[in-house]
Amino acid sequence: NNQNMPKEKGLDHTISLLKEGYNYIYNRKDKYHSRVFQTRIMGEKANCLIGTKEAELFYDNNKFIRKGAAPSRIQKTLFGEGGVQGLDGEKHHHRKAVFMSFMTKEMLSEVKELTEMEWERAITRNQTEEFNVYEEAKRVLTNVAMRWVGIPMQEDERELTDELDDLFEDASAIGLKHWKARMSRSKTEDWIKQLVLDIRNGKLTVDQRRPLYQFSMHRDLDGQLLEPEIVSVEVLNLIRPIVAVSVYVDFTILASIQFPKEVEKLQQGNDKQLQFFIQEVRRFYPFFPFTVARVKKGFEWNGYTFEEGTLTLLDLYGTNHDPEIWKEPDHFLPDRFKEWNGNPFDFIPQGGGEFDIGHRCAGEWMTIDILKVTLNYFVNKISYEVPQQDFTYSMNDIPSLPASRVILENIRRK
Ligand code: HEM
Repeated sequence: NNQNMPKEKGLDHTISLLKEGYNYIYNRKDKYHSRVFQTRIMGEKANCLIGTKEAELFYDNNKFIRKGAAPSRIQKTLFGEGGVQGLDGEKHHHRKAVFMSFMTKEMLSEVKELTEMEWERAITRNQTEEFNVYEEAKRVLTNVAMRWVGIPMQEDERELTDELDDLFEDASAIGLKHWKARMSRSKTEDWIKQLVLDIRNGKLTVDQRRPLYQFSMHRDLDGQLLEPEIVSVEVLNLIRPIVAVSVYVDFTILASIQFPKEVEKLQQGNDKQLQFFIQEVRRFYPFFPFTVARVKKGFEWNGYTFEEGTLTLLDLYGTNHDPEIWKEPDHFLPDRFKEWNGNPFDFIPQGGGEFDIGHRCAGEWMTIDILKVTLNYFVNKISYEVPQQDFTYSMNDIPSLPASRVILENIRRK
């Protein structure tokens, strides 16, 4: 069976995947003239998908599940076990609803205010010639995340920024780095677990609207409070990716340097133009290469057999560069989003499908808001010089970043 699905020959292709990185699935779509093919990764059979219809298939909850999908190495670092990413069906819906309940207009405008305030503080704090956008963004966003999530915090807990940094920067690295990332995750988890216990027994009073309190008091479908470990995993599922938005911040400022014509359109602080620019940053630059699920029950699709339990990868980066969807995909053209119709399956930097019953990123609106405020701040509120530096970025690091991290000089308020 499954004779129709093109198969990559050989025992294992993990090395090619690591080498070709963001282009691995895309390259084979052309080689096999198929948007579906099978390969072997980390000793396991894996289906690969790329494209709009394929994304729609991937997000069909009757066909794919998340349980046991993420390799445990990734799960123990990037995601944390027992979190929303690995849940299915009713359990997933019930947990995801908590995340989505924080994405109100009111709580999102708080994120915007906090972000601008923290950039102001970063500029004031900066006493040196050089301003490293990536390093500053991590600090800015750690402060934003801690306040917004509702964690009582000392001013500038630098050490914690470094720990959270390990959590996403080294997450997919193999070997020593993996252990380092695991260590810092468990240290941070222990600390949050203690906060949960203190909130529950009344020793600690925190803002009740905020995620730390809400997850501490959330009850699952059986009416039980969550294990403190799980609360900690979910709170970190908010903090860690908010800090990780610094990767996109770095690419946003890079884009503003590399595409000055597009920046001219932003000078009135026009919300629509800011939006188009940020959408294009999320489409154009590499971040999450793909997302993973497993076949729930065997089925046929377009003549291909999908066997129960098979690991399946949906290409996020490749779909965002698919010439069948995007004209001139390798050009940075924000205005293309004037015409985009909002299809939930063709523009998927943070996953596709639905937020509530699907696994689409809970923080997508927040990511866009943080980036819009940041872009407006850098374009319209401050001025700076850009020294000679190395802006190249690799296509097989996760996350990928400009080599120089984007260095600015002589920053002042306008
Ligand atoms: C899920 C990307 C920011 C919270 C995801 C997924 C991706 C993603 C690819 C998985 C989608 C899937 O498997 O179908 C990103 C990127 C971000 C970002 C590139 C930019 C830095 C955020 C932020 C938050 C967040 C700021 C929180 C405020 C989550 C959560 C999930 C998720 C909770 C799990 C959703 C579920 O399983 O139902 N994200 N994300 N992310 N993201 Fe994000």
